[in-house]
Amino acid sequence: MNAAETENGADGGPMLLELRDIAVEYGAVRALDGVSLGVRRGEVVAVMGPNGAGKSTVLKAVMGLAPVVAGSVHWRQRLLAAATHEIVREGIAFVPQGRRVFTHLTIAENLEMGCLYLNDRAEKARRLDSVMELFPILHQKRRDLASQMSGGQQQMLALGRGLMASPELLLLDEPTLGLAPIIVTEVFQKVAEISHRLNTTIMVVEHNIKGVLNIVDRAYILDKGAVVHNGTPQSIRDTDILTQVFLGSG
Ligand SMILES: Nc1ncnc2c1ncn2[C@@H]1O[C@H](COP(=O)(O)OP(=O)(O)O)[C@@H](O)[C@H]1O
Ligand SMILES: [Mg+2]
Repeated sequence: MNAAETENGADGGPMLLELRDIAVEYGAVRALDGVSLGVRRGEVVAVMGPNGAGKSTVLKAVMGLAPVVAGSVHWRQRLLAAATHEIVREGIAFVPQGRRVFTHLTIAENLEMGCLYLNDRAEKARRLDSVMELFPILHQKRRDLASQMSGGQQQMLALGRGLMASPELLLLDEPTLGLAPIIVTEVFQKVAEISHRLNTTIMVVEHNIKGVLNIVDRAYILDKGAVVHNGTPQSIRDTDILTQVFLGSG
């Protein structure tokens, strides 16, 4: 833990989700090397860094999808020991990179996939209404196949499907990847709206640094499997850390 994190810890209270000294190895490749980071209840936190820095691996380590060789993940200040398929019931929803929607299913069916474990039909209907209210386009197209949607709409669908789990924490991996600039802005606005309206805690992995810094409370910068900086968006804009990391890695 560096000085900035200690300061934040003093004002901000305990972490809702916390990675402590996590190391991940894919065979001979050490993808994360002693990564400590976290998000407090109600925060929107970004994990940024160049390609290959280990951003996706951070989220996969939480979800039990990465070979963690050292360190621990804490959820509500307890060791997170749930199996991958049980984590959603703990209150964590994961929207992976590449918006993997089910193209042969309708929009409504895709959304229902987000809470398969839920048997309460009334609750399912209530969540569907609430997600469609947040994303009017999903309501409008609810009977269309997901394959008929644009990339931006599919990203909204992937976000909506995550929210169907009614999560306390949403983990988003590169939600703006490959989208046109105007759609990127729209996606970031939706992420901010989810935080404000639903009070969902959010950890978002992003390559698109400029856009994401506008909507987050804090950000971590990852380079070559290690956290090289963390702080408020302003503290990050005030340093040349982004230039160093993003240009230095080329
Ligand atoms: N399944 C895998 N097998 C081997 N190496 C991997 C695997 N997944 C990721 N890596 C490597 O781990 C490092 C971090 O990858 P990743 O977390 O996907 O980075 P990012 O999301 O920041 O682009 C990279 O060097 C990548 O090549
Ligand atoms: Mg990635």
